[in-house]
Amino acid sequence: MITVCKVVVCRGRLSDTPELLCSAIHDRYSCRLFVPNRNVPGEVIAKLLTAASKAPSGKNGQPWRFRVLADESVQTVAAMLPNNKWLQNVVQMIAVFMDTANVYDIEKDTMAIGACVENMILEATANGVQSCWIGECSNYKDEICEILGVEKRYSLMALVAIGYGKKLSQAKRLDINDLMI
Ligand SMILES: Cc1cc2nc3c(=O)[nH]c(=O)nc-3n(C[C@H](O)[C@H](O)[C@H](O)COP(=O)(O)O)c2cc1C
Repeated sequence: MITVCKVVVCRGRLSDTPELLCSAIHDRYSCRLFVPNRNVPGEVIAKLLTAASKAPSGKNGQPWRFRVLADESVQTVAAMLPNNKWLQNVVQMIAVFMDTANVYDIEKDTMAIGACVENMILEATANGVQSCWIGECSNYKDEICEILGVEKRYSLMALVAIGYGKKLSQAKRLDINDLMI
């Protein structure tokens, strides 16, 4: 199955993505050590958002909405997340929301937003940008949305820290055989 995936997916380049999809899948890691004050260019952020928007969604509902956070707003939000102190060095984040006014099925829409975030971070990797998916924000979603002045219909699902950084450690994975049930 893995071989089939490699043959089908890795043949050729993605239209405007500089690296192969398989490389991005294998190279991506959660970065928690970013170079301070180095911004991801706007055109690269646009690519991340475009990739995110290409995710599948139930009934093509596209429940995701985005806001790019920079500078002070990043620091304000970071200060609200006690388990992610390392965010102090981060200068940009992408906040991903669910549009609750257009929910088709909460479980399926949640899965779609997961796919959307994954597309975003793979596109980041393919463009030499490091990222970290921050789930802790869901514990404080109402407070964060209020501070950001986000309408109540949008529910904060994830923050994605983006920037240029390096890997501190390699997260281990379970053996494939141990995943089979
Ligand atoms: C839904 C979700 C929530 C996460 N929340 C956090 C978080 O709040 N802080 C953090 O540092 N990493 C967070 N992560 C990243 C995971 O810790 C990371 O993916 C996992 O340890 C595997 O490491 P890797 O991404 O480097 O392969 C989250 C990942 C997911 C998918």
